[in-house]
Amino acid sequence: MRIYREADYQAMSRRGADILAAQILLCPGSVLGLATGSTPVGMYQELVKENQAGKIDFSKVQTVNLDEYVGLAPGHEQSYRYFMQRNLFGHVNISLDATHVPDGLAADLAEECRRYDRLIEDMGGVDLQVLGMGHNGHIGFNEPGDFFPLDTHVADLTDSTINANARFFDSRDQVPRQALSMGIRTILRARRILLLVSGKGKADAVAAAFHGPVTPRVPASVLQLHQDVILVGDSEALSRL
Ligand code: GLP
Repeated sequence: MRIYREADYQAMSRRGADILAAQILLCPGSVLGLATGSTPVGMYQELVKENQAGKIDFSKVQTVNLDEYVGLAPGHEQSYRYFMQRNLFGHVNISLDATHVPDGLAADLAEECRRYDRLIEDMGGVDLQVLGMGHNGHIGFNEPGDFFPLDTHVADLTDSTINANARFFDSRDQVPRQALSMGIRTILRARRILLLVSGKGKADAVAAAFHGPVTPRVPASVLQLHQDVILVGDSEALSRL
């Protein structure tokens, strides 16, 4: 694992953007796995600037997002499709057809999960997967549990995740209780993983993920088994590493 310890959120965002930009420059047709949450927002802003300055070209890039809330329409302000549109897709030269987010409104959610896994396989797999991490060590919406969910699945959100994500909604009651999420196998199959962490609230989760045992109780700990992980964090998030 390579670790970049950056001074603050902005430096973390720039470093993450440099790594994504290098991926796109070296392989313009890359399949990027993308994440939501507040952590990657600054990195997406940097990428938008680079794209608008003509330094990177998204025209051949394809994307697959990690997850989506069940029951939120793509136009809902808190859906992850909307998030991606607002933070990245709407500002760079990427074709919408080349961007993929699970459909949280699918009538048959199990079939939607299978479709999503097939789609990723048909695209040739993910070249670079961006991840954030929940305070409880979740990645995507793979919550702590007794086993690692392998494929894309319907995840029940834990109370701690519902509480953490309530800040984006008018009230806690409005936070969806379920999401569609790539599974651990899907994530581990990515050729390279870029994990972004920021803030002292993540320090314990980072330490548990990388100093503790590999266990589904701390889903991010499974990243210890991947051969090409780049961890980019600010000094607060990495303070216990
Ligand atoms: C959500 C997302 C995760 C994200 C996590 C952390 O639950 N499903 O992909 O990593 O939140 O979010 P934040 O970056 O806002 O701390």
